Amino acid sequence: MPEDTLVSDHFAIPETQKAWRVVRKGLPSKALHLNEKTPVKTDLAKGEVLVKVEAAALNPVGYKMMGIVPAFVAKFPQTAEYDFSGVVVNGNGTEFKNGQEVFGSIFGDAKSKSHEGALAQFVAVPAANIVERPANISPTGAAGLAMVGLTAHQAIFDIGKLEPGMSIFINGGSTAVGASAIQFARAIGCKITVAASGQHEDFVKSLGADVFIDYTKEPVHRALEQNPPEPKFHLILEAVGNIDLPLYTHSEKYLAPGGIFVSVMPQPDGLFDTPHLFRYYFEALLRPTWLGGTNRKWKAVMVKVDKEDLKTIATMVEEGKFRPVVDSVFSFEDTLKAYDRIMTKHTAGKVVVKVEPDVE
Ligand SMILES: NC(=O)c1ccc[n+]([C@@H]2O[C@H](COP(=O)([O-])OP(=O)(O)OC[C@H]3O[C@@H](n4cnc5c(N)ncnc54)[C@H](OP(=O)(O)O)[C@@H]3O)[C@@H](O)[C@H]2O)c1
Repeated sequence: MPEDTLVSDHFAIPETQKAWRVVRKGLPSKALHLNEKTPVKTDLAKGEVLVKVEAAALNPVGYKMMGIVPAFVAKFPQTAEYDFSGVVVNGNGTEFKNGQEVFGSIFGDAKSKSHEGALAQFVAVPAANIVERPANISPTGAAGLAMVGLTAHQAIFDIGKLEPGMSIFINGGSTAVGASAIQFARAIGCKITVAASGQHEDFVKSLGADVFIDYTKEPVHRALEQNPPEPKFHLILEAVGNIDLPLYTHSEKYLAPGGIFVSVMPQPDGLFDTPHLFRYYFEALLRPTWLGGTNRKWKAVMVKVDKEDLKTIATMVEEGKFRPVVDSVFSFEDTLKAYDRIMTKHTAGKVVVKVEPDVE
């Protein structure tokens, strides 16, 4: 065993590791550097756990942040990405034992303070951000469960107040957030209408969608107006994040009074989108109904770490009520190819990177 190696209950923890580090603003090919001598965080804070990463999964927010956040805000270098699965190698007095297989995510304060990330051989993460990985899914399946699962769960239950028997419309059923929302809604017996492209019709139906709308054939709000649901939807989840203002401003026609329009928050694709984005947020948040505003509540979801939600996801997986959806798997060395894949914006499920080469 090399001298620079720490041993924690049978696990050899090296001083340095391979990690994809964000070193500057830009596209992943410019922003990322594979640093083979990144320090492993061994001076864990109270409540922090060290996980040996088996697989990491990409989220659109990863490459979007690389493209917009300047160095003085992001404080480069920092390890890229959020979601992972792995094995606890230093439980550090928390409820986790060394050797326990887990999945989770590092984002928000935990990430901005530590500069840790998922695209590395080790990640130091608060114990609150991880749960035990169910035995019936592989590390590559578990890697991408956390962020989109939490987002969908919080959007439809905490904000949208979805209840058994209600009817929900999900715009973007084949996004990883949408695919998670379909499965949560199906598990409690809701009627589910979904918009996705024709190539993903079978995919969203296999997850539990009852009614399908092809967004490539006509604008979604028009399809819904021409064929309004009876009764109207109790909840709309906008799970694409594009700037589709009419879907909200026309929603009185297909969203029940008192129903909620929950959005993952539209983001601009480029500078030219900025005026449209301002208009969107003005209509959604500011314009009162007495000045012609839309008479339906618009709310944004901002994902947060919630251990109970993570446990719910794990239990549903264990019980066979929720299945991880994986679009593609790449090797650690091919991480830039994984970014090329997610940046097509036409994936069906998670883009996963194997950090341990032999992991399933
Ligand atoms: N607010 C938050 O806290 C939060 C948290 C997580 C994610 N998000 C945001 O949520 C959005 C979804 O994230 P994700 O990871 O689930 O995305 P994703 O899986 O990468 O989305 C890819 C999917 O989007 C579909 N799509 C693209 N344009 C579409 C359109 N106009 N209508 C319907 N479907 C469309 C594609 O289907 P086709 O190939 O068929 O077009 C593809 O299946 C992103 O904008 C992300 O940034 C927000």
